[in-house]
Amino acid sequence: MDRCRVLRELRNGPPQINPSLLACDFGHLADEVHALEDTGVRVLHLDVMDGHFVPNLTYGPSVIRAIREATQLPLDAHLMISNPEKYLDDFADAGCDSLTFHREAVANPLPLVDKIKRRGLLAGIALNPPTPAEALDDCIDACDLVLVMSVMPGFGGQSFEPSALAKLKHLRSRLASETLLSVDGGINEETIGDVVEAGAQLLVVGSAIFRSGDYPQAVSRLRRCFETRTHEATSRD
Ligand code: DX5
Ligand code: ZN
Repeated sequence: MDRCRVLRELRNGPPQINPSLLACDFGHLADEVHALEDTGVRVLHLDVMDGHFVPNLTYGPSVIRAIREATQLPLDAHLMISNPEKYLDDFADAGCDSLTFHREAVANPLPLVDKIKRRGLLAGIALNPPTPAEALDDCIDACDLVLVMSVMPGFGGQSFEPSALAKLKHLRSRLASETLLSVDGGINEETIGDVVEAGAQLLVVGSAIFRSGDYPQAVSRLRRCFETRTHEATSRD
């Protein structure tokens, strides 16, 4: 399966809920991945943290290889790491389908975007809440994906920062139609409709799924929240 093609095609369809593997049960990782597949999600979001760029430490290429063995779903790696240029090949070799690094972690993003694309992966770039959208002016046309953080990176379970909404709207108007716009942090039944209305297509969700105790129910409730909102907006137009 051409997983990158699947990722690219998501831009033409409805918004997608991307579970973030941070709050999952790592003692039963393959079971968790299969349970997520059963909910009908199309992408898995992998939160890679180095304990330096963010004050938390999670997992690297070896765990991602195990996840790759367990599923054919596209793996969208969120690299919350310093010096991401040093590790792009390791994450690509581990089986990631898109690599998203932080604009705040690099001086010049374009060489990394080019290198990721040369590896045949989608190239994403993430912005923390304080970083203005203009920080992408030097690379916005080269990216396949832009990730707007609606919390400061490092931990799940934080509250959504509403400043992300204006940034999403601005970026949606600036981005080429084929560029995926993703949002990450504090996405739940209260906030998901707003971020979809603001133009987000990939909705990263952690605790609203993993703390629910019922993954299929949580995903379908979240889906209903934005489908209702989208339906309301369509009937208004
Ligand atoms: C935070 C991560 C997010 C986080 C989302 O640094 O990038 O993906 O896990 O978790 P919730 O949905 O609980 O905010
Ligand atoms: Zn993330």
